[in-house]
Amino acid sequence: MIVTHSTTPFEGQKPGTSGLRKKVRVFAQPNYAENFVQAVFDVAERPDGSTLVIGGDGRYHNRTVIQQAIRIAAANGYARVLVGKGGILSTPAASHVIRKYGASGGLILSASHNPGGPDEDFGIKYNIANGGPAPEAVTEAIYARTQTIDRWLSIEAPDIDLDSLGESRVGELTVEVIDPVADYADLMGILFDFDLIREKVAGGLTMAFDAMHAVTGPYAREILEGRLGFPAGTVRNGEPLEDFGGYHPDPNLVHAKALYDTMMGEGAPDLGAASDGDGDRNLIIGRGIFVTPSDSLAMLAANAHLAPGYAGGLKGIARSMPTSAAADRVAEALGIPAWETPTGWKFFGTLLDAGKATICGEESAGTGSDHVREKDGLWAVLLWLNILAATGKSVRQIAQEHWSRFGRNYYARHDYEGIETAPAKAVMDRVEGKLDNLPGTAIGDLVVSNADSFGYTDPVDGSVSRNQGLRVVFEGGSRLVLRLSGTGTEGATIRLYIERYEPADGRLDGDTTAMLADLVSAADDIAGIAAITGRTAPDVIT
Ligand code: G6P
Ligand code: ZN
Repeated sequence: MIVTHSTTPFEGQKPGTSGLRKKVRVFAQPNYAENFVQAVFDVAERPDGSTLVIGGDGRYHNRTVIQQAIRIAAANGYARVLVGKGGILSTPAASHVIRKYGASGGLILSASHNPGGPDEDFGIKYNIANGGPAPEAVTEAIYARTQTIDRWLSIEAPDIDLDSLGESRVGELTVEVIDPVADYADLMGILFDFDLIREKVAGGLTMAFDAMHAVTGPYAREILEGRLGFPAGTVRNGEPLEDFGGYHPDPNLVHAKALYDTMMGEGAPDLGAASDGDGDRNLIIGRGIFVTPSDSLAMLAANAHLAPGYAGGLKGIARSMPTSAAADRVAEALGIPAWETPTGWKFFGTLLDAGKATICGEESAGTGSDHVREKDGLWAVLLWLNILAATGKSVRQIAQEHWSRFGRNYYARHDYEGIETAPAKAVMDRVEGKLDNLPGTAIGDLVVSNADSFGYTDPVDGSVSRNQGLRVVFEGGSRLVLRLSGTGTEGATIRLYIERYEPADGRLDGDTTAMLADLVSAADDIAGIAAITGRTAPDVIT
């Protein structure tokens, strides 16, 4: 029986860069998650007989919201729900499942790389039938609906058993608990040359993978240790935990420091990699060498043809605006288009659907391709492995050869976290106010060639997104980018992106910090972060 629960709107149910993210205690309020899920179902395109995919990264509160969402889906006329066993589906696996089974969409329950636990973060993201994050028109409509919502529908039914595979009924709805790993692992086996990699593993190719106590543990164990034959123990922290073991499941040099230390130490394996809370990000470290996400995108694109899934070549390469321009040079060499989109994977969806791009990437440790409509951490790791196996080269060799062909984009991102909104806005306002006057001015040895606020018109659907970050570009191709994060749950985070281009005949073996020093002081001059916020150093440098 369908029960109508009356409710009133909550303020602030506005999806950010990647879905609605709030503290668990906010989501746990009566009606909070229910309102949002109902708002999604009220606006989502879902023809009669639709299938909905539900899965999450296993963080605290995941199971509770899954049970709520199933009862609301049953009352809203879905025919079928596919849910990952244990409530688990990595974000790329969810994207694949939506596509493979023709679902009308999916709910992905995750706050990505944010910490988990009763006092930490939770999130709900809606993905559409192409498997990708809902575009802005849809997220805006969901938000508008949350502001007027006055009821949510549910049926009275007990919780389903999330830990046993198979079908059950919840009212008229069929719920199927699926193996979260199998479909995804099969897809990877088609894209990559597992036989070749297995052969090289038997011949001594080694790696370490840090799953950060998050969702990729079961995927990595099955694929790396199971199908590819890496020895047990290759996957570290492989048990998904509700609080990620108290750690921050963000695969960067700060939070994956143990892996970094392994890779810089004696006896390091050939490849070190990590993924985040929900499995869509990746960190790549070779023996003694960290590969920035921007460089990784460029190097993967340049070598992708070595993997069977990409042997036919790439249709185009897309990157988010703050991502370094390294990939653009590869696109140019390959004679294919290079696209520059705002931050947020959702902006790649139209390009991938229209066949305008094959590989996409972001500085925020996201890389992926048209095999799904999300970025995909393990995919990036497997493509690196395929390239190492096919070339017999080390990560360092691949990087050095790449730079001596295309030049090198030295790159760093400085994050100032938990800033109050007023000073954060003051920093942005100050830079925005200078944009018109900056071109032609010199700061130290640097001369500004142009400065603007990035706006984007989607080349496929014509939708326009303004104010997507402030750019200051210098003569020679170096640049500073400033934007506010769209994924935090408290206060504001200022991101300063710093990039310096050295041509192929320039200094390719410099130390990143030293190579960026004059740009950092130019940023200080232009943005005044220290003066306005009182923060003299970033919280995180990636
Ligand atoms: C999420 C999105 C990415 C985006 C990243 C950075 O991970 O999926 O596409 O690049 O957030 O967002 P932020 O707004 O915090 O810089
Ligand atoms: Zn993520």
